[in-house]
This record gives sequence, structure tokens and C-alpha cells, in this order.
Amino acid sequence: MNKNSAANAHAADDDTLHNATTGAVESNDASQAVLVANNISKRYSQGDLSVDVLKSLSLTINRGDRIGIIGSSGSGKSTLLHLLGGLDKPSQGEVHLAGQNLAQLSQRARGMLRNKHLGFVYQFHHLLPEFTALENVSMPLMIRKESVKHANEKAAHLLNRVGLGERLRHKPSELSGGERQRAAIARALVTDPQVVLADEPTGNLDENTADHVYELMLELNQESATSFLIVTHDSRLANRMDTVLTLTHGTIS
Ligand SMILES: Nc1ncnc2c1ncn2[C@@H]1O[C@H](COP(=O)(O)OP(=O)(O)OP(=O)(O)O)[C@@H](O)[C@H]1O
Ligand SMILES: [Mg+2]
Repeated sequence: MNKNSAANAHAADDDTLHNATTGAVESNDASQAVLVANNISKRYSQGDLSVDVLKSLSLTINRGDRIGIIGSSGSGKSTLLHLLGGLDKPSQGEVHLAGQNLAQLSQRARGMLRNKHLGFVYQFHHLLPEFTALENVSMPLMIRKESVKHANEKAAHLLNRVGLGERLRHKPSELSGGERQRAAIARALVTDPQVVLADEPTGNLDENTADHVYELMLELNQESATSFLIVTHDSRLANRMDTVLTLTHGTIS
């Protein structure tokens, strides 16, 4: 599969289309809400067993917000990010991205909206194994039908900024765990998204590298009013956000 066909395949595949973008931040209403969750609940059911992970949780992310989320293992942090990013559907409640109710969109339209506005850093990177770091990072731009030249230049620039300028041609299996994580961060940022949802983005990084990645995210926040919602176990890094929320018993405080 070449890169173009891969990009098209991924454009059609909602589960693998996760990165996003727009250069300009559209101001919609006075509050400039980018992402809104209204009373979302999530119940996982398997046979007789059911787990209520999120219970009527509401959250608004405005333009330029920097929010950290902490919570114990199993408290539902990844579940929350997946719902906010349109990767999974709430059992109840609604999620609105750029003013649109995700549940009311077709799978393809939801994927395109995500590609336009959202960057997503998965807890377990989800890089495509058969593609190089450069190809993985340029993929969201290829999906948007940007030129190969521009996509590669932008991807190389972001990979440089996360310290992987010497690893452009390496495949994920040829990168260390922390390098994979940084490539995944570059992929989420390459499209200048309005909002970045990041699930333990620095979990595999040493303190210095984690600091460097946080600096990059804070710079982008300053430069383009990108909003960040970051899940982390690291309270030192969480405290660098403007707001720190704790997820416990299915709700945030
Ligand atoms: N697909 C699923 N089916 C059933 N239960 C699930 C599913 N996904 C998650 N869960 C359960 O939901 C709860 C929350 O999981 P989640 O992955 O959101 O936790 P987390 O806060 O991200 O944890 P961690 O810090 O370990 O990453 C867990 O108890 C988990 O077992
Ligand atoms: Mg998790």
C-alpha cells in the first residue's frame, strides 16, 4: 500500500483517523467553546457484567484552555478522552466539537471534523508499523489532500521540534518507546489543531524530554491558542496546566 492509498484508506476508516487541524481558530460564540461534553455517561456492558465508568460528566474546553486531568488507574481517563475525541460514543449525553454534535454525524463526516479540528495522542501511540516516522506524521495532512511536499516539510519540522530530526526514515519498530511517543505527539500537532487531547503523552519519557515536550505544547498554546486537555499521572506536569481536574467515581472535580 503506498502512502496515498493509505491516506485514503484511513480517511475512510473512522477508528484510525484521529488527527486534525485548522490553521485558523474559528470563533463561534462568545465563550469560544471548542469542545463541549454535556452530561455524558459511559457504561461498558458484557453479559451480566456492567461497569459505569463515567456518570453524567460535563466539561467545556474553550479556545486556549490548558487543562490537566489526573485520576487513578481505571478511573476512566482514557474512556473520557475517547468520547471527547469521537472515537467512542457515550451511553448518554452529547459531545459537540466545533459546534457539531458528533453523534449526529456520519462516520465519515465525524472523521473529517476530527481531522480538521482535533489532535489526539493515544496512550499507546498507535503509529502505523509499516510506515516511517515521517510518513506517520505527514499522514493527517495527506488525508487532507495537502501536497506531498508540504506535508513532508511540515512533518519533518514537527519531528525536529520533538527531537527526532535524525529519525525521519525509521519505522516505529526501529524507534525507542519514548521516540515513538514523541512521533505520536508530532502527528497530533502537525495539523495545527484547535484542540489536542493527549493521553499520558509523556508517560515513557525521562524528565528532561518530558519537560521539552511540555514546553513545545505550551509554545503552541501561546502561538495559536491551541487548547490542550492532557491526562497525566505526573502531578508536576499537570500543575503546569492552568486547570487541573481530578476524575474520580465517574465524574470530575
Ligand atoms: N472496552 C471495554 N469494555 C469493558 N470495560 C472497559 C473497556 N474499556 C475500559 N473498560 C473499563 O473501564 C474502566 C476505565 O478504563 P480507562 O481505560 O478509561 O481507565 P484509565 O483511567 O485510562 O486508566 P489508566 O490510568 O490505567 O490508563 C476500567 O475499569 C476498565 O476496565
Ligand atoms: Mg488510560
